[in-house]
Amino acid sequence: METSTITSIIDTIKKRRSVFPASYTNQVISKETLLEILETANYAPTHRLTEPWRFKVIGGEALGKLGDLLATWYKENASADKFSEVKYKKTAQKPRKSSHMIAICMQRDPQERVPEWEEVASVAMAVQNMWLTASALGVGAYWSSPKSIHSEACAKFLNLGEGETCLGFLYMGYHELPEIPARRNPMAEKIEWISS
Ligand SMILES: Cc1cc2nc3c(=O)[nH]c(=O)nc-3n(C[C@H](O)[C@H](O)[C@H](O)COP(=O)(O)O)c2cc1C
Repeated sequence: METSTITSIIDTIKKRRSVFPASYTNQVISKETLLEILETANYAPTHRLTEPWRFKVIGGEALGKLGDLLATWYKENASADKFSEVKYKKTAQKPRKSSHMIAICMQRDPQERVPEWEEVASVAMAVQNMWLTASALGVGAYWSSPKSIHSEACAKFLNLGEGETCLGFLYMGYHELPEIPARRNPMAEKIEWISS
């Protein structure tokens, strides 16, 4: 691989950030671009080739419907002392501010040949592939994992089948933000070298 290619891969990884709906422009992501992003998910590693990633692409009027569903669930399930009107309104607005949302779903292997955590890990790697591709194409994205993803209303909206679970939503939209610095503690603190 050419040095410039390696450099740009590393650069893409380091520059990917969570970009939230408040920063999205009105520009709609084309189906072609969405498919280009989704295609890269399919190259994630997967134990026993179970390929557990499933995605539901939500756009157009469905965004408002999903926003209302998530906000209503929040209103009905937040405890009285924790409920926030601001969060309620934001929950309804965020999908409407997005070009698209991708529901991140996991299809459990019917024969359960691998532990569930390995399937979750594979789906997360598939999401990272998409997130990096989106970022490289100038599309902002962030993974949201509200409690409502475990609700029956959400399962119905997403048409989840037997053994299929929703792990969150990838909110997506174009943005015009300058590069966002990463907030990370040094990697050296997280590495232990074992050599004897
Ligand atoms: C599995 C997963 C779930 C996440 N859920 C949420 C969430 O519910 N709300 C949120 O604001 N960010 C969520 N995030 C995004 C993280 O907050 C974000 O990745 C982290 O702050 C690091 O920032 P960066 O993505 O810009 O590097 C989630 C990320 C992952 C990987």
